[in-house]
Amino acid sequence: MNLTQLLNDMTLDEKIDQFIQLATFFYAGAETQGEITGPMEDMGISQEIIRNSGSVLGASGAKEVKNIQKVHLENNRLGIPLLMMADIVHGFKTIFPVPLAIGCSWDEELAERSAEIAAKEAAVSGVHVTFAPMVDLVRDPRWGRVMETTGEDPYLNSRFAKAFVRGFQGDDLTNDTDRVAACVKHFAAYGAPEGGRDYNTVNMSERELREYYLPAYKAALDEGCEMVMTAFNTVDGIPATGNKKLMRDLLREEWDFNGVMISDWGAVKELIPHGIAADESEAAFKAINAGVDIEMMTACYVKNLKDLVEAEEVKEELIDEAVIRILELKEKLGLFENPYRGADEQLEKEVIMSTEHREVAYELATKSCVLLKNEEILPLQKDKKIALIGPFANNGDILGQWSWQGSKEESVKIYEGMTNKVGIANVLTARGSGIDSATDDQFAEAVKIAKKADVIVLALGEKSEMSGEAGSRSNIRLPDVQLKLIEEMKKLNKPIVSVLINGRPLDLHGVYEESDGILEGWFPGTEGGRAIADLLYGDVNPSGRLTMSFPYNVGQVPVYYNHYNTGRPKDAPDAQDRYVSQYLDIPNEPLFPFGFGLSYTNYQYSDLTLSTDHLTANDEIEVSVKVKNVGSTKGEEVVQLYVRDLVGEVVRPLKELKAYQKIKLNPGEEREITFSLTEEQLRYYHADLSFESDTGKFKVFVGPNSRECLEQSFDLRK
Ligand code: IFM
Repeated sequence: MNLTQLLNDMTLDEKIDQFIQLATFFYAGAETQGEITGPMEDMGISQEIIRNSGSVLGASGAKEVKNIQKVHLENNRLGIPLLMMADIVHGFKTIFPVPLAIGCSWDEELAERSAEIAAKEAAVSGVHVTFAPMVDLVRDPRWGRVMETTGEDPYLNSRFAKAFVRGFQGDDLTNDTDRVAACVKHFAAYGAPEGGRDYNTVNMSERELREYYLPAYKAALDEGCEMVMTAFNTVDGIPATGNKKLMRDLLREEWDFNGVMISDWGAVKELIPHGIAADESEAAFKAINAGVDIEMMTACYVKNLKDLVEAEEVKEELIDEAVIRILELKEKLGLFENPYRGADEQLEKEVIMSTEHREVAYELATKSCVLLKNEEILPLQKDKKIALIGPFANNGDILGQWSWQGSKEESVKIYEGMTNKVGIANVLTARGSGIDSATDDQFAEAVKIAKKADVIVLALGEKSEMSGEAGSRSNIRLPDVQLKLIEEMKKLNKPIVSVLINGRPLDLHGVYEESDGILEGWFPGTEGGRAIADLLYGDVNPSGRLTMSFPYNVGQVPVYYNHYNTGRPKDAPDAQDRYVSQYLDIPNEPLFPFGFGLSYTNYQYSDLTLSTDHLTANDEIEVSVKVKNVGSTKGEEVVQLYVRDLVGEVVRPLKELKAYQKIKLNPGEEREITFSLTEEQLRYYHADLSFESDTGKFKVFVGPNSRECLEQSFDLRK
């Protein structure tokens, strides 16, 4: 397709109409309303605009998508196909664990495979672009969307951002119709809203933005990610969607991003309540100048850009550039040749929820769950009587948010997973309570059942709506009624194992002390119950490690491992009782730190050795450590390497993750693990925003988590 010719043939109206993205139900060929993920308003747009529009939000299902496209092409003067975009975040119909859980697997290969499968199921169902990966760095578990990201570390988030993009897009988007284009989001720093309240103000220095928050978006783009979505929040006082410095100057100029930029749902019009646009015309003016090409679900562009161009306030070249970017994406996806791309009703039946896909979902779920506590109670013995109690004992709400095509009915519930393994006679069950309410009868029934058992397994947590978009909470404990259920169970003096189903690190007061074992299951996806059963009974050894700290309590948040020291650190050798940086009532440390997770075996770390005691810009240090499985079970360990720059031009974090390796060890097996460190890995943003390293002393730490490490030191010389 000659895109320049096509552009020349388009009227100004036709060009501008390419910019609007509408939900499925706007289209004549649609039978369903599609995925609705934001507030609805009457946009007052004409049929002509819909006929000329450029993309659809949330349509899927080969038959319906083909029909929407067919009717559209019959009515669109120049025959420009629609782009079908949707949120395929952690699976299409085969649902994988939520991304926060996927991060806890520390398994990039499997993460990539999950995205590849998600892409394939979505593609045969007619989707061309997924609004993923979401790579926002997070430090505050009150924010509901922490479940959508891989956590609090810029290095790990960047590694997973790349893995997801590779999985979604493959390496030949044009010819590989099993893949979809990726759209990294939400640019930028959406993961740092004040107070953890969704859509709230984000305020941070440019240095902090560049050092912690931007790397994962950049990593996704370096991997070839086709699109970027804006964020709802402000960045340095200016909403991201109208932020020229952020998008035009940084993203487009400095990073040279030439792909399509889409607003989040309604975010262009939201420049008005934010207070940087007086009306829709000014909102359109600011967003197009900032670099937003597609406006999702509001109509500021289609109603105002033509007047702005005619009044010479917006240059037509700006419009043309944006249109070309959209047409180029359509071309790259092969839509001019085949507007239906991968959509195929027959393949849908063969591919979606295939055994192969479910197996990968199972494997990823086993690797994503994190064993948080084990006082010699797990693994469960298969001949013991278990009382499985709680609102998640037999509940299909284990998929988590952004699984709009997922089927709770077709997911493996915990009860099913356990009984499939040990038979119904060994797993007695009662609901005990709902998520946030219970009747006396429910408690009484639970007590009656629990009395008959050797071990009580409590399946507790948050329902999926308690996290995800607009799912912020100020109290991040389990709902009171579930804490009461634990209390009732505790009175029976039997061992208690708590299995948690939730989308954020929780404040575990009322659970931690009361439980002998705790397995963090997150929202584990379609095969969740099977994975959890295998972990509980020890058929699989837990290997998940946290990628977001669990706070001691909510008063501690934001809490994250790579924080700065203070001038009055509590753990200084000369620290006094009072005038130190501390809480009077709780520890400074989180309950569970970044990188933490137990196993059914033990790993011993020894002999941390550096190949040299100094590093220069032209060489590297080899860091080696011995890791031995000193238990009697085979397992997988995540060996983590951190550094600390002891004296910097600006304050440096106490630890920064620089590398990790996930290794398998048989009982008694010892391996020497080697990492190499270069000067480049020690660079950071200085006060003048230059990105360089400091000469001087560094510490290097290697261990099983960010808290318990062996350490050595070296000098960096120039
Ligand atoms: O992709 C999402 C985004 O993450 C939040 N708002 C709605 C978009 C489209 O569904």
